[in-house]
Amino acid sequence: MRIYVTKDYAEMSRKAANIISAQIILKPDSILGLATGSTPVGIYDQLVEWYGKGDLDFSETVTVNLDEYKGLGPDSPQSYVFYMHKYLFDRVNIKPGNTHLPDGLNDDPEGACREYNELLQSLGEQDLQLLGIGRNGHIGFNEPDNIFDQDVHCVSLTNSTIEANKRFFEAGEEVPKFAYTMGIRSILRSKKILVVASGEDKADAVRNAFFGPVTPLVPASILQLHDDVILVADKAAYSKCSEYREPSPA
Ligand code: F6R
Repeated sequence: MRIYVTKDYAEMSRKAANIISAQIILKPDSILGLATGSTPVGIYDQLVEWYGKGDLDFSETVTVNLDEYKGLGPDSPQSYVFYMHKYLFDRVNIKPGNTHLPDGLNDDPEGACREYNELLQSLGEQDLQLLGIGRNGHIGFNEPDNIFDQDVHCVSLTNSTIEANKRFFEAGEEVPKFAYTMGIRSILRSKKILVVASGEDKADAVRNAFFGPVTPLVPASILQLHDDVILVADKAAYSKCSEYREPSPA
């Protein structure tokens, strides 16, 4: 595992965007696994800036997102498909047909998950998967559990995740209780995994994921078993790990 520790969120975003842009430049038809949430916003802004300067071309890039809320579609500002259009897809020259997310509007969990699993199989493994990390160590919507769920599945969100996600919803608005998410196998099949974390409230999750035991109670801990993981964390998110390992030189 390669670990980069940056001074702050802006530097974390630039470093992670650098890694993603290197991937696109070296292999323009890369399959990128993407994430939503507050952490990647700065990364997407940076990629858009480099695209604007003519340094990046998304015309052959294919994307597959980690997850989507069950019940929300492109017209809901809180849906992940809306987020992706807002922060990335509508600001670069990616082909709409090359972007993929689970279909939150498909009411039938089994059908929705089967469809997304089949799509992932048909596209082949991700070249690079971007991941944020939840305060409880979740990746995608793989919540702490007694088992690692393998493929795309429907999850019932934990109270802590529902609470954490309330900030994206208007007061009084219902936060969905279910989501469709890539499972652990869908994530681990990526050739390279890029985890980003920022802020002190992620410090426990980062320590438990990368320096604790591998357990489904900390879903991100499974990443220790993947042989090409890059962690880009800012100082605050890495603050409880310094005693375990020195970061790689920048
Ligand atoms: C988002 C996702 C989640 C987030 C995680 C961290 O697609 O799958 O696992 O990466 O909840 O979210 P933020 O970045 O908002 O702290």
